[in-house]
Amino acid sequence: MADINKRLFMNFPGEFFVDSTCINCDACRQIAPDVFAEAEDYAYVKAQPANTVGERQALQALLACPTGSIGTEHPNTAAEVISDFPLPLTNGVFYCGFNSRDSYGANSYFITHPEGNWLVDSPRFNRHLLRYFSGIGGIQYIFLTHQDDVADANKYAEHFGARRIIHVEDQAAVPDAEILIEPEDTREFGKDFRIVPTPGHTRGHCVLIHNQQELLSGDHLWWDPYKKRLTASRRVCWYSWEEQIASLAKLTEFEFSWVLPGHGQRIHLPLTEMHAQLKQLVARLSA
Ligand SMILES: [Fe+2]
Repeated sequence: MADINKRLFMNFPGEFFVDSTCINCDACRQIAPDVFAEAEDYAYVKAQPANTVGERQALQALLACPTGSIGTEHPNTAAEVISDFPLPLTNGVFYCGFNSRDSYGANSYFITHPEGNWLVDSPRFNRHLLRYFSGIGGIQYIFLTHQDDVADANKYAEHFGARRIIHVEDQAAVPDAEILIEPEDTREFGKDFRIVPTPGHTRGHCVLIHNQQELLSGDHLWWDPYKKRLTASRRVCWYSWEEQIASLAKLTEFEFSWVLPGHGQRIHLPLTEMHAQLKQLVARLSA
């Protein structure tokens, strides 16, 4: 619950505000980019919602915020907006919302599939998502991109009998995971899911490519909305920057048109443009 007494001074005056408990995870800017922006180490309200669509997005951001740092001056209708989640993105792929503080507010995703649904990283364990997942066939696999973004994966796994997948080098975060990815073990699950080890951010970081269209990229790469290009960051590389660049180069062998990251902006481009963007990123980082 946001505290109006901790309201950040840079908020644009009006109904919505961000307070000083914000951890700048970026979730609100992904959901309501016309309302929230970044200043130093915080998100803040750059403009109050201009219409009902903007207001609904701001309420979705309020619900997704992992630290409860978004508030309103008066009682709001956020309870009516819960049913918007998970938010559909494309092709049976959804953004879960309810980002968890335990994963520093990382985004998690849900993918529906006739042979079993997938959860990619974990949202907060909550009643609404449990009901939604139950109603759509449960969860068969929980793919964890890396050790940072486990959050409540174990609770979801227990509830749905889901099999957790993580790379062996990041296994300490889920010691009893059912499926381990070995180093260099690019692994296919049916014809629609491929897991690719991408060491760098952590030693056991992996990405998931769905249907040769969506790259669930964890903290490996994301879109820079200011420079309008794919990017990765040495500042948040915990294991090896050299290996991360090599992992990015490896990804140029695969096709995808979406990048859906844990943190940072989601992006959809034509296949050829995405490929060119990735090659340019690797060239830039290797120079
Ligand atoms: Fe991470």
